[in-house]
Amino acid sequence: MPARLRVVRTLPALRTAIARLRRKGGKIALVPTMGALHAGHIALVRQARRRARHVIVSIFVNPAQFAPHEDLATYPRTFDADVAALGKAGTDLVWAPTAATMYPSDFATRVVPEGPATAGLEDRFRPQFFAGVTTVVAKLLIQCTPDFAMFGDKDYQQLQVVTRMAKDLDLPVKIVPVPTVREKDGLAMSSRNAYLSAAERAAAPALHRVLKDCAARIARGELLARVLDDGSAAIEQAGFTLDYLEARHAGTLRPVESSKDGPIRLVVAARIGKTRLIDNIAV
Ligand code: PAJ
Repeated sequence: MPARLRVVRTLPALRTAIARLRRKGGKIALVPTMGALHAGHIALVRQARRRARHVIVSIFVNPAQFAPHEDLATYPRTFDADVAALGKAGTDLVWAPTAATMYPSDFATRVVPEGPATAGLEDRFRPQFFAGVTTVVAKLLIQCTPDFAMFGDKDYQQLQVVTRMAKDLDLPVKIVPVPTVREKDGLAMSSRNAYLSAAERAAAPALHRVLKDCAARIARGELLARVLDDGSAAIEQAGFTLDYLEARHAGTLRPVESSKDGPIRLVVAARIGKTRLIDNIAV
């Protein structure tokens, strides 16, 4: 178990702390987060512990990935509870920079991803999002120099985008996917679930239920278009406004015509009340 959880907020303190970890020997794993931690994040920390002797968790609500109309100001912030949970889960270092440290006023460089970042899924609804993510994740990987970085399957397009970026920029890190952690009724855990009213929360598991049903039907050989039409109707029936329900190639996220073009990943995004939820499943 780690000796003691340290929280660092400045780059010089981070460099000193990482040099100390490196002197002890062993691998380092990084878990990038925006805080408001739940069991999904903690699963990433546990997987990180299995891979590496030292675990760093970053907590930074990244302004660059929020559009002006999105929820940056109201995004849940639970820093003290987060640090307590990380202490229990076995974390060596919490990297919690300020926005001014990450983006000083003369900041002028962005990482702009293509390929899976322009697949026409999340990028269609959040055009600034992935450049914001890859810019901050590139910075975190350069700052923390981890051997492994853990990302959830939950944000499937983000996982593919970050994996592509790490390869394209020759970053010496292995991006490790971690399966989605769900509530008992199937709803994927998310910091944004806190926004759901009781009625919306009761309707929300429909997303996972429909994904599972669609995946089973596709695996049985049913026609993709038919299955996706039925799935879309079922999601709207449950009270959602659908942004997309699509079958894509699991690696490139390119559209697929049939199971022959697979492996297939089903991806969904839908809004209920003021909350936008995403989920995905392998076929
Ligand atoms: P955040 O939403 O805090 O998520 C941090 C990590 O936890 C991501 O890799 C996400 O996929 C993973 N995660 C979230 N919910 C999960 C669940 N239910 N099961 C498994 N993993 C889950 O994603 C971000 O922050 C940001 O975009 C970030 C990568 C930190 C860049 O700012």
